[in-house]
Amino acid sequence: MNEDIKEILYSKEQIEEISKKIGAQLTIDYAGKKPLVICVLKGAILFMADIIRKMDTYTEIDFMDVSSYGDSTVSSGEVKIIKDLDVPVEGRNVLIIEDIIDTGKTLQCIVSLLKHRKAQSVKICTLLDKPERRVEGVVPNYVGFQVPNEFVVGYGLDYQGMYRNLPYVGILKEEIYENN
Ligand code: XMP
Ligand code: MG
Repeated sequence: MNEDIKEILYSKEQIEEISKKIGAQLTIDYAGKKPLVICVLKGAILFMADIIRKMDTYTEIDFMDVSSYGDSTVSSGEVKIIKDLDVPVEGRNVLIIEDIIDTGKTLQCIVSLLKHRKAQSVKICTLLDKPERRVEGVVPNYVGFQVPNEFVVGYGLDYQGMYRNLPYVGILKEEIYENN
């Protein structure tokens, strides 16, 4: 699997360190607020598992699955809810955990939905941010790392369902996806 990776951008140790930092900040910011932490499936599962273990607050979790990409590396611009939340968000302090913000379309859609459902507050925590490609005015509140405009995989991020289990974030070789 490693031979499909052009370059490792962020190691397991770097991700561990940033999760600790963000978790400590969230512990302060959400003290006494009993946040509802929403994991955007499937890419954010590893990062969420790290973050919530570092949040020393009463915390509830839920999951949402949306799709905008299909199997391509380019956004279709369409966001579809595949699995909705189980927990009502009205009056809750919601923290969305994402793997990566690219165009911002996915989060734009999730944030407006949560606001429409009367969440008290909605904040975004993302492992990776690709600001170069942003078309929506989504600004994450907590960011692990910024990444260049390359297709990255690992630590939850996939290409055609693969590579999510890599313990680091790396750039996928173009030859893996260029003929698809
Ligand atoms: P938007 O464009 O809506 O996209 O901000 C967010 C979603 O797109 C996926 N995405 C990627 N997945 N490597 C991936 O594995 C990437 O470089 C990449 N860029 C965007 C991701 O699922 C994210 O939730
Ligand atoms: Mg995703």
